[in-house]
Amino acid sequence: MAARSSFLIVANRLPVDRSMAPDGTASWRRSPGGLVTAIAPVMQRRHGAWLGWHGAPDEELGPFEQDGMSLIPVPLSEQEVQLYYEGFSNATLWPLYHDVVAPPVFERDMWDAYRKINERFADAAAEAADEGALVWVQDYQLQLVPAMLRKRRPDLRIGFFLHIPFPPVELFWRLPWRTELVEGLLGADLVGFQRPGGASNFIRLCRRLLGLSYKGNEVYTGDGRSVTAQAFPISVDFSELDNLVREPHIVQRAKEIRSDLGDPEHVLLGVDRLDYTKGIGQRLEAFGELLAEGRLNAGEAVFVQIATPSRERVEEYRRLRDDIELQVGRINGEHSMLGHQPIQYFHQSYDREELAALYLAADVMVVTPLRDGMNLVAKEYVACHNDLRGALVLSEFAGAADELRQSYLVNPYDVEGLKRTMLAAMRATPHEVARRMRTMRRRVSTYDVDRWASEFLTALES
Ligand code: ADP
Ligand code: F6P
Repeated sequence: MAARSSFLIVANRLPVDRSMAPDGTASWRRSPGGLVTAIAPVMQRRHGAWLGWHGAPDEELGPFEQDGMSLIPVPLSEQEVQLYYEGFSNATLWPLYHDVVAPPVFERDMWDAYRKINERFADAAAEAADEGALVWVQDYQLQLVPAMLRKRRPDLRIGFFLHIPFPPVELFWRLPWRTELVEGLLGADLVGFQRPGGASNFIRLCRRLLGLSYKGNEVYTGDGRSVTAQAFPISVDFSELDNLVREPHIVQRAKEIRSDLGDPEHVLLGVDRLDYTKGIGQRLEAFGELLAEGRLNAGEAVFVQIATPSRERVEEYRRLRDDIELQVGRINGEHSMLGHQPIQYFHQSYDREELAALYLAADVMVVTPLRDGMNLVAKEYVACHNDLRGALVLSEFAGAADELRQSYLVNPYDVEGLKRTMLAAMRATPHEVARRMRTMRRRVSTYDVDRWASEFLTALES
């Protein structure tokens, strides 16, 4: 057993994912998504342990060290992955919390598995936490853990942070298990959200659903405790990326990327997990129409879309992959010329260096989620442009839009608006692009991921 820890992160996933090749060989790779991007640098700078699933079903592993972090794997069986992770987390909560952009499923066996796995995480956290430790529970997969853990270990200081949006009362109300979920979160001392709207949705829910009173952002639980609900917009490791893109080999790689793309006038870029909340189809549709209408010449621009494989066994994700690949094929079929394809599509993961070079190479970054808690890709793009080149087209429905007001803001449901905005970003003068980028960089460099973590942890400790 690992030594007990005074600072513990509890998340569905560990920062590394164990993947099994068909021949049975196991290897580790970085886990996908914004949570790992944000929490990994925080953990590397503070001593503590990270408890989470290691990504391989039906495999039990002991604690181990990796990249300066102490990792404690929590096992999940194949059936638990299906019901708790693919089921309740990603087929019920994910679409419901993202404005119901896909229909959520409500199935009792998925809920039972969710409760059971939350118990398992609470047991593991109770075991791993030192007397009076600070435990920081992450995201929608583990909303019952705060109350379960408090029951087991009342000595702990418990924080919870939700990385995705917290929905309006009217949407949350549909959940057959709404009371249990809210009571689960109320086990924390501090519940953090990406945006102030998420915190106020939660407070309103506590009042309507449980009849609890509140003052400002403090909810009174009725048993003498109070829980703070507050926004802490998450961010990126600005200096890591800023330093990385100053490395000559990254600058060189960015040049190579542009040259491999045929040195077009405009390189547009999209980087997302292949998720139906990200608005990938909407941005490709807008780009395709600009080509079809001749407002963009076929050789003038290349759209590079990186789509990281994600949740591939969930029905909606399978369908999305087929839809996007069909759409890319159609647009390329209609507008390609020998030696030039307007959309370059990659269903692959990349390491940080290649991603940084791609950001640096892109003139226009297109981030168009239909709903997103924050969207770290938008902030990463800003962190990578110390050259002050690069225009960011950003959805009004991403949390990042609150801070990155100097981006080219769009409503992704409005295809005409999207086309106009993408063109405006491509045609902006270097002076205008630099003016916007400078202000956005000031914001992201000041509110970086360290600031996010220390503001949360200071509030939790006080
Ligand atoms: P989400 O958490 O929903 O996936 P974010 O935009 O907040 O969305 O975070 C995505 C993170 O995953 C970013 O740090 C981004 O750099 C990383 N990422 C996205 N696509 C890839 C990819 N193809 N290869 C490697 N990392 C990726
Ligand atoms: O940021 C939202 C989030 O769902 C994280 O909780 C998660 O780690 C990441 O996106 C990637 O999703 P998944 O762990 O399901 O691959």
